[in-house]
Amino acid sequence: MSSNASKLQSSFEATQGSNLHCQVFTCVSPAALNVSLSACYSTQFALLCSDCLLTMRAKASDMHGKDCVKVAVRVRPFNKRERDAGSHCVVSMVSSSITIQDPRDSQTRRSFCFDYAYWSHSGFSRDRRGLYVPEEEGGRYADQDSVFQDLGEGILDNALQGYNATLLAYGQTGSGKSYSMVGYGPNKGLVPKLCDRLFEAIRENQDTRQCQVFFSMMEIYNEQVIDLLSRGSRTSGALRVREEQHRGFYVEGLRTVPCDSAHQVEQLMEQGTRTRTTAATHMNANSSRSHMLIVLQLKQIFSKESITKQSNINLVDLAGSERQRSSGSEADRLKEGTAINLSLTTLGNVISALADVAVGKKVVHIPYRDSVLTKLLQSALGGNSRTVMIATLSPADICFEESLSTLRYAERAKRIQNKAVVNESPTERLVKELKAENARLLQRLSRLGQEGRRAHDETKELRQLLTHNELQIRAIQTLWEQHLQEALKDWEQQYANITQERRMMQMHPYILNINEDAQLSGVVKLFIQEGEWDIGLCDSSLSSISIKGLGIQERHAVFRNEQRRVTLTPQPGSKVIVNGHAVSQTAELQHLDRLVLGSNCTYLFIGYPSERGGDDWSRYDYDYFQSELAAAEGVHLGESSAESTHTDPSLLAVFYDYIKLMPMVAEANQMSQELSKEVEFKLEIKNLALSDPKGHDLEKEIVCRVTSTGRKQVWIWSKTKFVNRKFLMEEVYQQHQAEQSEINRVEGLSAAALPRDKDPFWDPVEPLLLGTAHLWLQSLAFRIPLEEQLEVLGSEGTEEAILQAQLVPCNSTGLPLGEDDILIDPSELLGRRLDFQLVLEQCCGLRWIREARNRGVQFGFRMFDCSQPLYTPAVWHNLNPLLDHRVHFASVHTSQRLLDYLQSSAVVLELWGLQEGCTDLVSSLEGVRMTTDGVFIIDEEGPTNAVPVNSAELSCSVRALLQDVEELKSDNALLKKENQCLREQLNTTKNGGDGGRGRPLRPSCDAEFARALKVFYHSMTSVRGQLQRLRRHRPSEESDLLGLRLFIDEQGRLMRDFSEQLEQSVSTLKHDVAAIVRRKRERSGIWFD
Ligand SMILES: Nc1ncnc2c1ncn2[C@@H]1O[C@H](COP(=O)(O)OP(=O)(O)OP(=O)(O)O)[C@@H](O)[C@H]1O
Ligand SMILES: [Mg+2]
Repeated sequence: MSSNASKLQSSFEATQGSNLHCQVFTCVSPAALNVSLSACYSTQFALLCSDCLLTMRAKASDMHGKDCVKVAVRVRPFNKRERDAGSHCVVSMVSSSITIQDPRDSQTRRSFCFDYAYWSHSGFSRDRRGLYVPEEEGGRYADQDSVFQDLGEGILDNALQGYNATLLAYGQTGSGKSYSMVGYGPNKGLVPKLCDRLFEAIRENQDTRQCQVFFSMMEIYNEQVIDLLSRGSRTSGALRVREEQHRGFYVEGLRTVPCDSAHQVEQLMEQGTRTRTTAATHMNANSSRSHMLIVLQLKQIFSKESITKQSNINLVDLAGSERQRSSGSEADRLKEGTAINLSLTTLGNVISALADVAVGKKVVHIPYRDSVLTKLLQSALGGNSRTVMIATLSPADICFEESLSTLRYAERAKRIQNKAVVNESPTERLVKELKAENARLLQRLSRLGQEGRRAHDETKELRQLLTHNELQIRAIQTLWEQHLQEALKDWEQQYANITQERRMMQMHPYILNINEDAQLSGVVKLFIQEGEWDIGLCDSSLSSISIKGLGIQERHAVFRNEQRRVTLTPQPGSKVIVNGHAVSQTAELQHLDRLVLGSNCTYLFIGYPSERGGDDWSRYDYDYFQSELAAAEGVHLGESSAESTHTDPSLLAVFYDYIKLMPMVAEANQMSQELSKEVEFKLEIKNLALSDPKGHDLEKEIVCRVTSTGRKQVWIWSKTKFVNRKFLMEEVYQQHQAEQSEINRVEGLSAAALPRDKDPFWDPVEPLLLGTAHLWLQSLAFRIPLEEQLEVLGSEGTEEAILQAQLVPCNSTGLPLGEDDILIDPSELLGRRLDFQLVLEQCCGLRWIREARNRGVQFGFRMFDCSQPLYTPAVWHNLNPLLDHRVHFASVHTSQRLLDYLQSSAVVLELWGLQEGCTDLVSSLEGVRMTTDGVFIIDEEGPTNAVPVNSAELSCSVRALLQDVEELKSDNALLKKENQCLREQLNTTKNGGDGGRGRPLRPSCDAEFARALKVFYHSMTSVRGQLQRLRRHRPSEESDLLGLRLFIDEQGRLMRDFSEQLEQSVSTLKHDVAAIVRRKRERSGIWFD
């Protein structure tokens, strides 16, 4: 090998590829050097040599330094929801350490230390330019500028030095990732600031280096890469991620736009965001589940030093990090969560594995290849890049779990060690040297004549190389200029479009898109000029406005703009909602009207400029739209409560769950319809009080009722299950749409016809909890029998059936007790045996059966500490089935706990609906204590009775109980003594007086008292019923003013009834007790005076 050749090779050994993954460099003898020009752009200027493999060697100084991933955390201000809920801040910061406090336990707090911690929660004000700045100079509030100074400047520095740099934003949805990365309005984020400074630096250094910047922007959604800058349909659709040995993973065909100003980049980002917005609507995708990647490639040519430096800056706005999996108890039959964000899950796995490597654990495999995102970020994590992660947090107590999980994630990321190297290439110096050497050789050649032949041979290779290199330099230069010209032309066109759009905004009314992701709201503007405009899937023709989205028809509706009045007429069969109400006729639009077209395409109508005034449009965000729709369905917080800080947080959580799920349900219904799945989804608010034995107004939760329209089967899905299924439905739907184009050719091949076990729209039928009834047990504490007609109420308060039930105090053989066994003081039961029977006689007016006769029902209940629920046998096809089910329970030594239970609780009788194909519910007797006569033993002390609670608590309550027992015992002894005394006095009186003169036998006062109590108890049952009716009483969904007035009148009447009944019961009791006392006194007077 000639000296030049070896020089060339050693130079290449020192060369680092510009590509992020170019750690393996291929090289051949210089003669065979083959510079692939076409690859120059697509491989980000990697040089290709193709025979021998040489591992790239970095500069020694680079190799020794390991770069830990730098981690910053940032806490944002409370958002509206958090303020409404009266949230507390659970995060505090001192310098770069951050502490998070568990809101449920003041003793539990976790502290973390990061490279930077930014307090952006409080201590700020908005200046005249709309910038959020510290309230006072030097205040602790971290604004966008200070974040940029720490993180952005570092990244820029690294890039200018020739290092690859990566910035990742991680955090739960709405925590401020996009705010930090991209920013909102005047509060520009890291990316635009970085671009500003980058081009500024380029200008400042233009004497020493020539710079080229390339910009690309992509989105990863559901493991598909979408080019956000692609033009036209040719390149639209998902791109492939490929792998090549020399350049690692790359996105094939990704548009890379040369840029020469920050303004140009800003505009490209705007274009990208617009594509992201339309892609989100077209694909029915949730943007917070997608990752956005911006890649800035910077090439610097230092002509004096004849070196080239290349670096990639990756800016990644990750998808919302909230836990995508539901808890184990709610596990879904279908694959869960994994696909919801495979990329995010894999990123977590990669980070964990790398963190383990950093602490010296043996890790066999880093799962980079498991997802698209980790493939593309391979060098950013553990590779050739200087990487920064900004973890964003919500400060609110309600987000504690998510924030803690974000902090843990960030802590792991902090441990990752990268090996960044300067991507410096001496090719140009080499070319110069070759040129000089060539000239020398040619000189020698001409001098040496004969010898020249050999010299010529020797230099032939070098000359070829020289030619290649010269060609390459020229080509690169020309290509760059060509591309830049093209990009500038494109940019000018875009700029003209934007200017045109701004002009149109000042002339015409238009509709503005509103997206769940604030970053994508207000991006699309559709103008309604004078005349008639079809809006729908129809291609943009001269008289139509083209939109795409779920449930949008070919001609969905017609806008008419005549004499400065704009009307909207829905086409038959299409769904149009204006200000929360469905419209089917022509509606005149007013400035700031809210439109929902199809299942969930939301727009704000902006009237003519003269109508606009200075109003603030920002309040009409996605939440506003959904709250308005929820209100139309009768679900609302009420005017004052929305603003008040006293709104019950659990109620707020339910409300926000409802408005979050509502559009998803609308979309699921649309997909079901389009895929002919014949299932309907409906949200229900489940009142958990219905399953609570104390009947307290506990929390509520949202569930989704799924009904198959054909077979009338019903499922109830939890919120998490529905969200998981909705995601799988989207996958099926997208597949279906992709197949739609081919379906005409391949008839019958359809994603809609999935096998059942893979179908997210389907589930095997199961018994369904229809409703519950509460049978209060208080009467048992007095050994008074109770016979009740109970309303079985569904989760939304609907009457599902009437159940006739009895509680019968009995003896151990099951014989009912008589009136004389009634107790005045329930504590008499303590330590004694108590037997009673629960009788479920008949059920009437079963709504479940009325809806479809091929169904059945069962009742289930759980008494006191019975470890398993017991079920009645199934009865089918009967609207008023006779149950005749009797269960005997016994407590051998009645405890205070049982007595408390009887006095304050009800047995919850659950009505289960059976459907064709599902198996009956069977009482499992495992762990249930039973006698040979079939008597269920409750309240038995023993190991099974032990509640696995904190032993200190347990011993405390045992001690309290023992104390109670002791007190009761002494009371009892006193009473006995008193009784004895009385009996003696009575005997003396009888013997001494004329008491024996045939006095009619009177009922004892105790029995009278017990009877009065029984009457009172019965009347209280009806009072309780009245109270429940009051609780359930709500205005009807369509209530107008008149309806509301009627509702208030009715409410007033119910209140009056309630208070009258209550007063009457109490006064009857008072009257009865007074009469008993009077009689007792009279008798005492006769007998004792
Ligand atoms: N530091 C901050 N100061 C002021 N407002 C903020 C800050 N961080 C976030 N916000 C506001 O919070 C809202 C949500 O923020 P952002 O859109 O950045 O969330 P995100 O994490 O990107 O959510 P998603 O995962 O849905 O994309 C925005 O309205 C934004 O203006
Ligand atoms: Mg975002």
